[in-house]
Amino acid sequence: MQFHSQKRSRLAVYPTATNRLRIVKIQEVKKESPTVKTFIFHDRLCAEAEPGQFVMVWIPEVDEVPMSLSTISSGGLASISVADVGEATRAINERSRGDVLGVRGPYGNGFTVASGNVMVVGGGTGLVPLLPLAEKVVEVATKIIFLVGAKTKNELLFLDRIERMLSKVNAEIVATTEDGSYGLKGVVTDEAEKKLEKERFDVVYTCGPERMMYRMFVLAERYSMPLQASLERIMRCAIGLCGSCVIGGFRVCRDGPVFTSEQLRMVKEEFGKFKLDFQGKKTPIS
Ligand SMILES: Cc1cc2nc3c(=O)[nH]c(=O)nc-3n(C[C@H](O)[C@H](O)[C@H](O)COP(=O)(O)OP(=O)(O)OC[C@H]3O[C@@H](n4cnc5c(N)ncnc54)[C@H](O)[C@@H]3O)c2cc1C
Ligand code: FES
Repeated sequence: MQFHSQKRSRLAVYPTATNRLRIVKIQEVKKESPTVKTFIFHDRLCAEAEPGQFVMVWIPEVDEVPMSLSTISSGGLASISVADVGEATRAINERSRGDVLGVRGPYGNGFTVASGNVMVVGGGTGLVPLLPLAEKVVEVATKIIFLVGAKTKNELLFLDRIERMLSKVNAEIVATTEDGSYGLKGVVTDEAEKKLEKERFDVVYTCGPERMMYRMFVLAERYSMPLQASLERIMRCAIGLCGSCVIGGFRVCRDGPVFTSEQLRMVKEEFGKFKLDFQGKKTPIS
């Protein structure tokens, strides 16, 4: 396996430009599922992001929320894909083509792109940062297995885009739904375990519900394979100052959101078990 060290991003050289709020115009809106929409916009800094980095999206008079980038394109286009779960995400989902949003970032450490035999495991909107990652991985990997999980067929995201992306390379796609309405019935981690039992992977990438990622971490440890997982925490400043995203000794906005197996071992008392709520109180992860 070879890790492709990413060149120091130009973003790191211009931190003030990254932090400056930019107003972007929505070029296109795509409905991905009954509750998730993708918003495409032009932004040079987002289009130069590393897969796995995130932006803070400002909705005037509502809130500012963290979102991964679902498109990072050389043509200057970027996108976010947003699940309607509360006030801010509903307000974004009510936006149409021609409306504007505020963005700052991209922030944090993204995934390290690796070659060799690669496993990708995503659930729900956790698939968002895995899309631009997989677009880079297909250029260097010898084989990719992409496992996609959801509760029902309606909630399975981005299957078309994943199929198109992997159509010309040595790849396998496994879809699971908990109710069996599409693909294999069950949870995605069980299918991942079956593959890990039989095959050696040079890296396992994961993003999704934290309990799912914790399960993948346990499995990757059991089979001694390196893992990279993208974590979510409440975020406010996004630049390591406010402490709302703390996990162990790390700040997810600055030290993550992508963490390696080595880092996750250091926070395994909290990872998959507790997070800080909006008041900064440690609460169990359901
Ligand atoms: C690095 C990162 C990347 C993310 N990428 C995506 C993405 O690509 N697509 C997507 O749909 N969502 C993503 N999220 C989650 C998204 O930020 C939250 O769903 C959003 O902030 C909820 O705001 P709200 O006002 O709509 O909901 P609220 O009414 O504030 O809360 C609804 C639910 O979302 C949780 N939540 C609220 N704020 C946050 C937050 N800042 N971080 C994590 N959970 C939160 C709450 O605990 C609650 O369970 C990401 C979060 C992080 C930290
Ligand atoms: S969001 Fe403020 S320290 Fe991470």
